[in-house]
This record gives sequence, C-alpha cells and structure tokens, in this order.
Amino acid sequence: MKEGIIVDDLRLIGIPGTNKVMAGEFSRLVRRAFNDVKIKEPAKAGLGALIYPFEPRLAALAVTYHRTASRVLRGLYRSEAKRLEPLYDDLLAGVSADTRGWFKDGMTFSIAVSNVASFEAGGRQIVGVVKNALVDGAKMRGVSLSVDPDNPDFRLDVRMNEDTLTVAMDLAGRPMNQRGYRTDRGLAPLRENLAAVLLMLARYDSRFDLLLDPMAGSGTIAIEAALMARGQAVWSPPRAPMAKNIEPYSEFIPDNPPPLFGDAAPAIIASDIDKRMKRVTQKNMEAAGVEGLIEPWCADFRSLDAEMVKERAKSLGLERERGLIVSNPPYGERLDPDDLNGLYSELGEWARTFKGWRAAFIVANTDFEAAFGGRARIKKPLSNGPLKGYFLQYDL
Ligand SMILES: C[S@@+](CC[C@H](N)C(=O)[O-])C[C@H]1O[C@@H](n2cnc3c(N)ncnc32)[C@H](O)[C@@H]1O
Repeated sequence: MKEGIIVDDLRLIGIPGTNKVMAGEFSRLVRRAFNDVKIKEPAKAGLGALIYPFEPRLAALAVTYHRTASRVLRGLYRSEAKRLEPLYDDLLAGVSADTRGWFKDGMTFSIAVSNVASFEAGGRQIVGVVKNALVDGAKMRGVSLSVDPDNPDFRLDVRMNEDTLTVAMDLAGRPMNQRGYRTDRGLAPLRENLAAVLLMLARYDSRFDLLLDPMAGSGTIAIEAALMARGQAVWSPPRAPMAKNIEPYSEFIPDNPPPLFGDAAPAIIASDIDKRMKRVTQKNMEAAGVEGLIEPWCADFRSLDAEMVKERAKSLGLERERGLIVSNPPYGERLDPDDLNGLYSELGEWARTFKGWRAAFIVANTDFEAAFGGRARIKKPLSNGPLKGYFLQYDL
C-alpha cells in the first residue's frame, strides 16, 4: 500500500469547540455497546474534529448513535499537494495501491468538497481531480466506478485541515443533524446536533433532572433530550445511514437499532407561547418515536413558576430531585432590540425564582448576558451555524 497517502481512520466532525463533548459521548457509547473495546484518546484535527483508528464496528456505532457529531467519516487518503496535478498523482498512487477492497465493481459515488480555501484551485476542479483519480486508480485494480450525483452508492467528503487534504467516505451520506424527525419546524429551529451539544454541556442527566425548555419552538432540545436519555439511534426510520448498505458496516447496523438505555424514563416539559409550536412539537415527537416521553405545553414562560412545573411533573409521575432549564431564546432577527432586551431581563428575573435549579442557554445575542443579569458559572463560545454565539450556564 502507498504509505503516507492511504490512511485508515474514523473521523467525527463537529461544531467548533465541541471536541471534548464529542469525545466524551463517544467513549460513553463504546462503553455501553461493547465490553471488550477500549478506545484511545483521539487525535484532533482542529477545533471540531476527532480522529480514531478505524474499526468497522466502531464506525457503525458512531454513525448509528453519535448525537453531537455533524459528520461521521472514514478517512481514506491524504495529500499535502496544493495544486491539482500533484493531487491527482498522490490519489492515483493511493487508490491503485489500495488493497482494502472498500470499492466494488459497478459502484457509483458523489463528491462534496468543503474548507478548501487554502488549495490553489476551486472546489469544482478539486472534485474533478478526485473523481478522475478514483476512477482511474480503481480501473488499475480492475474495478469500474462511476459518478452518480443524485443517487450514489457512497459519498466522498473532501476537506482540508491546515495543509492536509483528506478524502473520506461520508458514512451517513448526509449531515448527522438531518435525523429525519423534523417534519415541521418553527421560525428558527436549532440544529439537532447543536441541541445535543447544549444538553451535554449542561450535563443533563435524565435520572436526576426534570428538564424544562420554556421557549421550545419545534421541540428540538426536548426531543434530543428524550432520544439521548434512551440512547436511541440518531436516525428516525425509514431514514438510515448510507453505511447500512455498505460493507463492512452493514453487518453491524441492524434494521431497527435498539435503544442503548431502553428503560430510561426522562421527565421533560417543552413549552412555547405559540400554539402552533405545540402542534409542531407533537408531530416531531411522533416522528422521533418519543411520544409519551415529553409533555408539550403552551404558555408564556412568565406565567409559569417552579411549583407549577413540579406539580405538572408530579401529576405525570415524573418527580426528580433536580431541575434544569435548557433553552434557545429568540435572538433578535425579528424583534426590536429593546423588546428583546426586555425579554432577556424578564427571563433572568423569572429564572432566578427557580431556586436551586440550573439554567443553560445558547444565545447569539451579545446583549443577553447583561440583560439576563447575575453571573454565568460557565460561558463558552458555541456558534449556531453562521451566528456567533455562546453557551451560558447559571446556578439559580
Ligand atoms: C429561537 S426559537 C426556539 C427554537 C427551538 N429551539 C427549536 O429548535 O425549534 C424561540 C422560541 O421562543 C418562543 N417565545 C418567545 N417569547 C416567548 C415567551 N414569552 N414565552 C414562551 N415562549 C416564547 C418563540 O415562540 C420561539 O418559538
């Protein structure tokens, strides 16, 4: 095999700043799923990318259950070329010497390129070169491959970190946040894997915490919390990761992957001022298979208090020793800044009446902290897509 160009690793790509959360989640999943595997500390490729040695069943586990990653990849080839010709030469050498048998005769593929600004050619040209090198290299091994952008057998992910370009197989075939349960959405839904990050940063534990999202929108945080508590697969049927149809992963991905903590009974309330959002949350809960695990509510948060919330939970048999508020408040694209600051300040006053609870927010508005008042115990940069944002946690 062509040393240095062929690589074999499992890559968890995530939101910048979430390496620790992603690594913690993966080691918990591995401990739960396998008695006989100990994973090593991963290498890091930037602020949101972890690299583990490749093993098919670990790759299958990650692409089936890992909630905080945005992509799960199998790294295949790397090159430090900055121009198209040497990139072609490197990849051709790697593919033609590749004895792993990961590509089979007649397979089709597509290629997506990201983060290649430091390469001396554009994304389209890189796609062309990677495609040619793969097709030509496979042909030298007696294997015929062709491109099908719409319905491929596998998708390749090409991206750069510092000076290295990596060609990888995208094991889900799509971003991990497209889980398949969001049938309808509010105006500003949180990405599903970001909601999972938020819950993990807030150290949500379904055994001890009564969870309240008082501005739940389409219910993403509540639904992720329920799915996380039960260790349910990321994908809501009929959606499945692409790797389910590809050897050697297919044998490790059953038709209906079982929940890893099937008997968990979380206590979660999702409330929003907008009536339509309650219906949307209900629909999404059904699609995610968590009906009965979340209590959807329609209320202005200012009309709720800790006693009411605890009473509601008690009447449902969901008492817990601790309380946790996790939310993604409006950040201002449709509200007047004064109204928004007023809302944040009322949210702060309201939250501080939940004595002894914790509260965690993802906010993309720099005025939030001052208006909310008090002092955050944890503050960490955490971006919501293109919006620069923060994770803030308060002890109330
Ligand atoms: C940024 S969105 C939340 C999005 C949500 N995390 C999701 O993924 O769909 C903010 C939500 O706050 C709700 N909201 C605004 N003011 C509220 C209030 N006073 N009480 C309760 N909910 C409110 C809005 O209706 C909106 O759905």
